[in-house]
This record gives sequence, structure tokens and C-alpha cells, in this order.
Amino acid sequence: MAPAIVDDIMVKLENPTVKWITVAACVGGGGYLAVKMSLFRKNPFQVFSGKTGAMAKNLVDSGISSYNEFFNQEDGKGVGDKKLSTPEFVNKFYSLITDFYEYGWGESFHFAAREVGESFEKSIIRQETAIAETVGLKAGMKCIDLGCGVGGPLRNIVKATGAHVTGITINEYQIERNKLLNKAAGIEDLSDVVCGDFMDLHKVFKPNTFDAAYSIEAMCHAPDTAAIYKQVFKVLKPGALFSSYEWLRTNKYDPNNKLHVDVVDGIAKGNALPDVRTIEDCIAAAKSAGFEVQYTFDRATTGGVPWQAAMKSARRAAYLTHILTGVLEFLRFAPKGTQAVHTMLLKAAVNLEKGGDLGIFSPMYLIVMKKPVA
Ligand SMILES: C[S@@+](CC[C@H](N)C(=O)[O-])C[C@H]1O[C@@H](n2cnc3c(N)ncnc32)[C@H](O)[C@@H]1O
Repeated sequence: MAPAIVDDIMVKLENPTVKWITVAACVGGGGYLAVKMSLFRKNPFQVFSGKTGAMAKNLVDSGISSYNEFFNQEDGKGVGDKKLSTPEFVNKFYSLITDFYEYGWGESFHFAAREVGESFEKSIIRQETAIAETVGLKAGMKCIDLGCGVGGPLRNIVKATGAHVTGITINEYQIERNKLLNKAAGIEDLSDVVCGDFMDLHKVFKPNTFDAAYSIEAMCHAPDTAAIYKQVFKVLKPGALFSSYEWLRTNKYDPNNKLHVDVVDGIAKGNALPDVRTIEDCIAAAKSAGFEVQYTFDRATTGGVPWQAAMKSARRAAYLTHILTGVLEFLRFAPKGTQAVHTMLLKAAVNLEKGGDLGIFSPMYLIVMKKPVA
């Protein structure tokens, strides 16, 4: 029976029309499966169509132009006197790039120290549980995640510790994603999400509300480190710990070296940072906020695989995405400006890699602080 069917198909395939329809169906179906299942974590047609995006289609082009203008900084001075408007542009940045990050990187928008042989996903979770350990998080405690993104770390930390975590982000679209993903993960009872500016935490939460706080690669967006640390200080209970993975210039950074200055400026511009600080800046900010600094530690110096290696291995997919965004934009399927957003992210990735390779920049300089008991 089977051979008869095969014979029948072979005869039909001799007909040129049938043959070309079959070839087209195989190529189309194979391409679709490759796009959907292997090359990309999310379906690019859905992601870049503007159907799931954070920003109205007609605003993407002007959004990326005004963002680029605001963060156009060339001389190692950050955004200068425009600092106070940073949160508004950070919000615009995340409206433009949240889908790209989630699509290309995953639900956790941060880097990780990685051991040789460890998967990217495992290293991300280890990075998250490590910060939870530094604040002694466990079941029964109430914690705040400052700058929670779409909640990848929050979900993993809730699952690992059993603590209750409230996430805050300035970006409304990220709140939508959090709600959806937290529900799917079954952690609604142990989590909460709030849309707001963490520079105004005292307007959202009462003083002495939380038993612990952590922030993963988010304090770097604050226009003023001492001011944001002061906000966190207020909402913590006495004796509570606050840990942050900071994006910092290391002591290898030389302000007289043009390459160093250009790379760090490129990191700031491509990631919506008002400037890039040092660990000394953070320690001084912590003390002026009233915290006792317990310890600081550059986690980028640990692990056998440098944190920036994950970007190098994702580069091929990133270039494919770049071509795809151009094609989708040309076909008017993706909003005008989509490829410009991706160009910004590609440049940011190149500078981050260079910063890591030169050792002048760390995205995971840990600082652990304590609110004194009395
Ligand atoms: C690089 S992402 C990190 C997200 C998350 N911590 C993670 O690792 O997945 C930075 C986050 O900080 C948030 N953020 C930046 N500035 C903020 C502000 N002024 N108030 C509240 N959230 C802010 C952004 O919306 C974004 O969610």
C-alpha cells in the first residue's frame, strides 16, 4: 500500500505545476518553522508588527528621533543639565525596546556571570538568586524590586525564596507584560506590580514598608544616585538590606583615553543612562542616603565566561533580526522607525562588548547596603 502511494506522488511530482507548488510549500513551511521555532525565541512577525508593542505605530519614528537627540552625548559628560528629564526618556526608551529585549534576550533584562559549561538561562537565574541571598530573602518577607522590567527576575526570585515581591517600573507596557506573565507563572499571590517613577517612591509606598529591596541593572537610569538611594531608604524598615547590581565604570577607565570615553558614552546613549558612575560615586551616595555600606563586589570578575560573551554568541541572530526589521518596515508591516531602534541596540551591544573586553565597564557591580536599626 505505502509504495503505491509513493509511486502515485512521484508521478504527480512529474507535473511541473505540482512540483513547483510542492517546492514552494516545503520552502515556505520550513522557513516558517525555522523562524518560529529555532532561530528566534518569539515570533518576529508578531513582535515587530506593532500589534504587541508598547508604542503606537505612528509614534515609533518620532520616538526614536527624539530619544537619539536627548541622549546624544559625545564628550564624557552624560546628558548634562537635562538630567532631571531622564525618567521621561527612559520610559520612551523602554516603550521602544521592550519587545526587542524580550524577543532577543528573554524575560530577564540583565547580564550574568557565567561558569564554563553553564547555560545562559541557568546563569541568569543564578545571578538573580545570588542578589536575593545578599538581602537574606525568605518566605514571609516583603521585598521591593526596583526597576522590574517585564518581571523575569521577580518571578524567579519569588519561586526560589517564597518571599512576596513588589515590582516597580516606569513603563506601563512592562506592567501589562508582568501581569500576564506573573499569572501564567502562578505567582500572583506572592507578587504585585506598580507603574511609577522610583525617584518618587515615597508617593507610592508608606515609610518602613519593606523588609528588603533589590535592584538589577536599573539604578543606572536614575538621574541622581543619592536621591534614588534616599527614596529606597525611606520605604525600608530599620535593619533591612538593599542590594543593587550597578552599571559602573571600573578603575581601568581612563578619562584621557578617547576610546574609553567613546565606548562608555556609547553605552550610555544606547541604554538610556544619564551618565556612567563609579563605585566610589555609589558608596558616597549610599552613605549620604543614610545607609551603612556592608560590602561591594564586582561580580563581572567571577565565572569562566565573560558576561559580554552572551552578546557575541547572539550576534548572528541580531544581524538576522536587523535584516528582518528592514524588510518588515519596507513592507509596512513593522512601524516606520523600527530598524532605527534596532540600529541603536546593535550599536549599544557593540559598545557593551568593547567595555567588557577592555574591562572598563561592569553591568553587575554589587553594592549591599543596610538601613541602620536606630
Ligand atoms: C535594564 S532594565 C532591568 C529590568 C529588570 N531589573 C531585569 O533585570 O529584568 C531597567 C528597568 O528599570 C526601569 N526604570 C528605569 N528608570 C525608572 C524609574 N525612574 N522608575 C521606575 N522604573 C525605572 C525600566 O522601566 C526597566 O524596567
